Amino acid sequence: MPFVRAIYPGTFDPPTNGHLDVVSRGSKVFDHLVVAVLHNTSKGAPLFTTKERAEMLTEVTKPFGNVTVATFDGLLVDFALQQGATAVLRGIRAISDYEYEIQMAMMNRKLAPSLETVFMMPAEKYTYVSSRLIKGVYQLNGDISELVPPLVLQRLQEKRAGRTPELGGEVPGEV
Ligand code: PNS
Repeated sequence: MPFVRAIYPGTFDPPTNGHLDVVSRGSKVFDHLVVAVLHNTSKGAPLFTTKERAEMLTEVTKPFGNVTVATFDGLLVDFALQQGATAVLRGIRAISDYEYEIQMAMMNRKLAPSLETVFMMPAEKYTYVSSRLIKGVYQLNGDISELVPPLVLQRLQEKRAGRTPELGGEVPGEV
């Protein structure tokens, strides 16, 4: 049986329990899983730097013996091939994810036919969880403690205490 290395790419701003659930499932199916944090996202300025996102992911994926974390820029397929991966793992939560995911998978197949995209579904209790919603709810003081790893909650609290304007903190110099 060949050794199968897979890439699990994403923005992870911030990582959620849904992401972790997919990592857990992927780590059981693949020999090695590389969680790949996109450096330059088209989604606008991320809340956490690439380094912060990679650090959080490294910490929370430590219990899995076959998972590592990397950052990448440019085309996913280039990074995946450079890593010696033969599969790309993506989590799919609802039918609304499907259109975007299938487009990406097909484009990636066109660019690199040897790479196979594999979709996995997170546990039902995380099907509505997204990084975007997490940030929005946290900003409005909603309880997200069951939806993100404790470390991520702590980092969000630190961001707020560090007066990050996006999270409702005071900006130095502002009255
Ligand atoms: O968590 P996200 O934001 O849904 O992840 C999107 C990601 C990182 C998988 C996607 O934006 C990506 O692969 N970007 C790298 C650039 C690239 O390869 N673009 C062509 C994809 S068809």
